[in-house]
Formats: sequence, structure tokens, C-alpha cells
Amino acid sequence: MKKTPLFLFYIMLLTLPLMAQINETGLRENAPFKKEVDSVLSLMTLEEKIGQLAQLSGNGEVTGPVTLNNQYQEAIRKGEVGSMLNINSASYTRKIQKIAVEETRLGIPLLFGYDVIHGYKTIFPVPLGESSSWDLEAIEKSARIAAVEATAAGQHWTFAPMVDIARDPRWGRIMEGAGEDPFLGSAVAKARVRGFQGNDLGQKNTMLACAKHFVGYGAARAGRDYNTVDMSKRMLYEVYLPPFKAAVEADVATFMTSFNELNGVPVTGSKKHVKGILRDEWNYDGLIVSDWASVMEQVIHGSAKDLKEAADYAMNATVDMDMEGKAYVPFMKELLDEGKVSEKQIDAAVRRILHKKFELGLFDDPYRYCDEEREKEVTLTPEHREAARDVARKSMVLLKNDNVLPFSKKVKKVAVIGPLADAKNEMIGTWSAQGEGKDAVSLLEGLQNALPDADINFVKACEVEGHDKSGFDKALKAAEKADIVIAAVGEKAMMSGEALSRMDIKLPGVQEDLVLELAKLDKPLAVVLFNGRPLVITEVAKKAPAILESWLPGTEAGNAIADVLFGDYNPSGKLTVTFPYALGQVPVFYSHKHTGRPRTEARYTSKYIDGPNEPLYPFGYGLSYTTFEYSNLKLSTKKLNEGETLTVSVNLKNTGKYDGEEVVQLYVRDLVGSVTRPVKELKGFEKVSLKAGEEKTITFELKTEDLAFYNRDWEWTTEPGEFHVFVGGNSKETIEAEFSLVD
Ligand code: BGC
Repeated sequence: MKKTPLFLFYIMLLTLPLMAQINETGLRENAPFKKEVDSVLSLMTLEEKIGQLAQLSGNGEVTGPVTLNNQYQEAIRKGEVGSMLNINSASYTRKIQKIAVEETRLGIPLLFGYDVIHGYKTIFPVPLGESSSWDLEAIEKSARIAAVEATAAGQHWTFAPMVDIARDPRWGRIMEGAGEDPFLGSAVAKARVRGFQGNDLGQKNTMLACAKHFVGYGAARAGRDYNTVDMSKRMLYEVYLPPFKAAVEADVATFMTSFNELNGVPVTGSKKHVKGILRDEWNYDGLIVSDWASVMEQVIHGSAKDLKEAADYAMNATVDMDMEGKAYVPFMKELLDEGKVSEKQIDAAVRRILHKKFELGLFDDPYRYCDEEREKEVTLTPEHREAARDVARKSMVLLKNDNVLPFSKKVKKVAVIGPLADAKNEMIGTWSAQGEGKDAVSLLEGLQNALPDADINFVKACEVEGHDKSGFDKALKAAEKADIVIAAVGEKAMMSGEALSRMDIKLPGVQEDLVLELAKLDKPLAVVLFNGRPLVITEVAKKAPAILESWLPGTEAGNAIADVLFGDYNPSGKLTVTFPYALGQVPVFYSHKHTGRPRTEARYTSKYIDGPNEPLYPFGYGLSYTTFEYSNLKLSTKKLNEGETLTVSVNLKNTGKYDGEEVVQLYVRDLVGSVTRPVKELKGFEKVSLKAGEEKTITFELKTEDLAFYNRDWEWTTEPGEFHVFVGGNSKETIEAEFSLVD
């Protein structure tokens, strides 16, 4: 029952000439500034060209061995540097730019790159948290603000968004992405690229975005950072590549190759993946930078015998720039002399780098981003803080609420317990650029702001880590005397992020015991969680009456949490990653396959004998202070022809007492395919706002191409047959209808 995807042949025929042109010059035929780029290129010596391929680090946040320490200024003078990372502030970028402009023969300006991941000075929630808002406008806005602040401080280029799909909560960098799902991940990738880059890179407040880490990095075995990745081509194409493809569609200016090996080959040196997919399949002519020393690390992986061979592989994979690797500059000329790389290849890489400098307007004015006045004016402004507060509360996920929340603002006595209640530094998470804990609002401060007349009693009770319970007594006494109890527990900032994998993802230290003790008091208790990854909180979920997942909420943390706890904002976040019931389930995600023996009570079925298959909280899950009812799911047809669009409509009613927002989710299942299909796949979502009692009809359009996949013969196509459509407020609780796709 296979269909030949004829249309693919036509598309390939049409794009072939374009592909050839990209390969020849490094840029697309119609790229702007082509002439200007070529005129600069024609003036350059080979050494100057090779110098453009190097990126060195200043002394900011360093995540690997720094090869040159303070000697980078000398390297710039010698024309051996095209770009710097970790040079901070308008005045310092100006100083370093001056060296390139005034002390090198051609005066080619440097590109300044930095990890502006979730804000520059005003810090937004960690990206995993932010994705839980499912609010693409808010996500775009947060990236926009980050770009406004960063560009005023001289930055041209952010190494974000990280679009790695991640399904293993042990992996610390799960906090940097948008969770487990490729459809949502693609939408978020586009929103963040739009936010950083705006409509015009020539504007002074827009910056180059970077889709990273290409590719497979999020699938590090056993969740241990930098670990080996081994995955099928299908998994790669269906799950891990789509957000990168989406970034290309959003015109992302740059890509970063990842540290990991993929099926035996470190990706930075994998011609098959980098050149093959990015350049040849996707026609991508943006700048590709390696990750920190990942060109060199091919030697440590054991796939290149020395730095020269490492440079050879990476250049032939079309990696244009060597980040802190010191492999390109010393060895590129030798490789050229030996015929391992051609001058054409070097020219193509240099063109792609110069092209970005032209797009940013650096040849007109190399200092246009180093603006001390603007830096002061636009950084950490009240408007930016307000936006951070808004995104933070939209990102929070209400995991449980047995009629405890929202608390009344009339409460007199509040007990705030836990090691993260008064922890400003922890609120902003890792990768917080120039954000500072001193500017953050702790939960305690947020509560004091919200309840100026209440008696707020804070007891730390214990540390995040360690075994000391000596503070429990004081905490329990304070809780006993209070009208309401708020427990602030979770992970420190430095427990998620790069090289911060955990093998146990429970609440660290004695915090779980603390919460269980507090729960015994039978008081109105809300547990506020701070963390950059899903945690196993099964016991807490059994005993605590209310749980709010606040992630690592950023500069406005405490104010945003108070907004939610006291009902000024009705929570609307939904998980973008599954919360396991037990660590042994990992990886556990909603779009799994059915297996030949799906779980039943029978003996020989796919299950654990000591626990459920189901996670604690599924993908898409999150409560509100109001309730929503789904009904009347209708499909425009029961028989869909190839090329047609299916309209799916559903009634959504706010049946509770509060106005609120609901993320309506659309999932599809293809019942029989030439290859097996997931039990559910997200194909649409909409965040809908409804007044108490209000009802709306929500419609989605599903095109037949949305149902396509790589069939048994690796053709991208749809297959006729039966489909189920599911609509609901999470991936588990849905209502459903059926249709068939006909030939
Ligand atoms: C990380 C990248 C980051 C780079 C520069 C590396 O260690 O993997 O995500 O952009 O450092 O700081």
C-alpha cells in the first residue's frame, strides 16, 4: 500500500541548480552582500583567510580549556582570529574590536559571540521552563529582550537556541531545551530564532542566533553529558532533526556542531551529517561553528589521529569556524598543500563568516554594537523585568492542587520553609549570562511584596544537599503556628546545565523528608519546586496537597511565584517533558511505540513487575485553578483524500470559577504503517483564554503532509489507512475521533 512520492522528484529537480551554486561559493546565489564579500575575499592572503576561521575565548564564562589565556589579543593582532567569545560589555568589546580594526592589515572586524541562553542581564526562566508556557509569543519576546540587552553590550551572536530534543532527565542540559517533543521543539526553535534575529540583522538590536548542538547531543547515553550517542536513522530524522530543520526554515544565521559522536563518528567531523544533511539536503548556507574544542576532541574520541586530521575532517564536513580548538589555524595550510582541502573550501568558509559581518553592518561601523549609553539605558529596565515576571508565571506548572490554591491574600501567618526560599543566586539558573543573583527576587521577597501586612516566618530547615535535619524542629513549629505553609525545595542552579548530569533525580538531600514531615501537619501546604529537569517526586505527590513547578524562574522569580500562589495569575503551564514515576522508567516519553505486547495483567506483556509503565505526570500535563471540559470533537470528513485538509474542531468550556488559559493539544495516531508509528504524536496546539463559564470552539487544520513519515523504503510519504485524532489538555486525557486517509 505504498505511494510513490513523485512530488519529491520534482522538488529535487527544481532545487538541484541552487544546491550546486551553494556548494561552489559557500553562499546562495541570491544572498545579499555577495559582491561585497567577494571584494574583501579578493584582498585576503591565505593566512588572513585561515585566521577568519578561528574563534577564541576571552576570560568570561569558560567551559573548556582555554588555549591562549590572555594571549588572544596578540593572536588578533596577527590576524589569526575571526571571532571572539566571552568578551563582555560595550567598553571591552570596543577595546578588543579596536585591535582587529586598527592593528591588522585589512581591519576586518571581529564577531563577538556569547551564550545568551535565557536572558542577558534580565534573566528569564530556564528554557525548559519557558517552553512549558506553550506561549510562542512570550517565548519570542523573551529572546527579543535578551537580544536588546546583549547587543547593547557589544554582542553580535548568541549561541542559542539549543534545540536538542531531550528525553533523559538525568542529562543536565535538558534544562536548556524545549523538552521531549519534536513538534513543539520545532515551534519553540522558530520562535526563539525570530526573537533573537528579529526581521533584520542589520538593526542594532538584533543578533545572530545559533541552532545547537547539531546533532543528537540530547541523546547522550544514560544521560551523562558528552557521552556516546547511538541512534537509528529513523530516530534521528523523526525526533532529533526536526527542530534543527525548523531553525533553518526560520532562517537561523548559524549552527553549532555537537561534542558527541553519533554512531561512531564525532559529529563535528562527520561529513555525512554536517555537509550531507545541513548543506546538501537542507541547502543551508549559514555559518557553522564547532562546539568548544570539538574539532580537537575528535582526537580524544579516537577518530582522528592528530589535530591535523581533526581539522581535515571538520573542514571537509563544512564546519567553518573552530571554536577554541586551535586546529584550523596551525594546520589548514598544510592540509591545502597536501590537497586534503581546497582553496575553494576555505574560501567558502571565509565567505560565510564575512557574510555575517556584512549582514550585521560591521563593515560600515565595527563599533555599532558597543554602545555604553545604550547598554545602561536598555539593561534590566522595569519593562524587561515585567516581561520576565510575565513569562515566569506563564511557565509555571501546577502539578497538584487538592483545593489548597490559590491562597487568600488575607492570610495572617505564613510559614515559608526550605533551603530555596531565600536563595536569590539559585533563582537564575545556569547559563545566566550577565545576570546576577543580587538582582533576583527570592520567593521570600516575593511573598513580602505580595503580603505587606502578613506575618511571614521563614525557616531554612536544611540545606539543598546533605543529611542534617537539625533545623526540622524549628521549621515544623513555625508551620504549626501558620495559617498556610509554603515549602521551597528542589535543585540549586548548579545542578542542571552543562556537565551537570545526575544519577538520582529525587529531591536532593533531606528535602523530601522535610516535605513529608510538613505534610503530616495537615495544614494548607504548597510545595514550590525549583529545578532544571523533571524530578522523581512520587512520594511528595502522594502526600503534599499542592505542588507548583516553578523551574528556575529567573530575575523575577519570587514575584511571579507569589502571583500564582495568591491567584493574581491563574497557572496555565503544561509540561513539555514527562515526569517519571521512578527513575527506572527513564527514558519515558509519551510518543512511544505500542510494542507487540502492550501492557495487560497477563504475565508476558511489556511492563515492570514493581511499578507502573505510566509516568507520574505525562507530557502536556498541568492544572489550572479553573476546570476545562472538552466536548463535541468533530472532523470535517471521515475520509480524507491525499492533498486535502482535515478540519478538527472541539468545544472547550471553562467550567470552573476562575478565568483561565488552557493549552489545547491535538495528537494523531496512524494505526497501521509500513513501519510502526508512535501511539500519539503532537500535531497542533493552541493556548486559549476563557472567562469563567465561557465556551469556545477551537479548530485545527491537519494537512495530509502532516501525516507523512519515512516509509519502509525510506521514502517521505503518507500511507492510506486508519487514523485516530485525540484532543485534550494533556497527552493522556483526551477525547478521540477517527478518520481514514484514502488513496
Ligand atoms: C557548550 C556550548 C556553548 C559553548 C560556548 C560549550 O561548552 O557546549 O553550548 O555555546 O561552550 O560557551
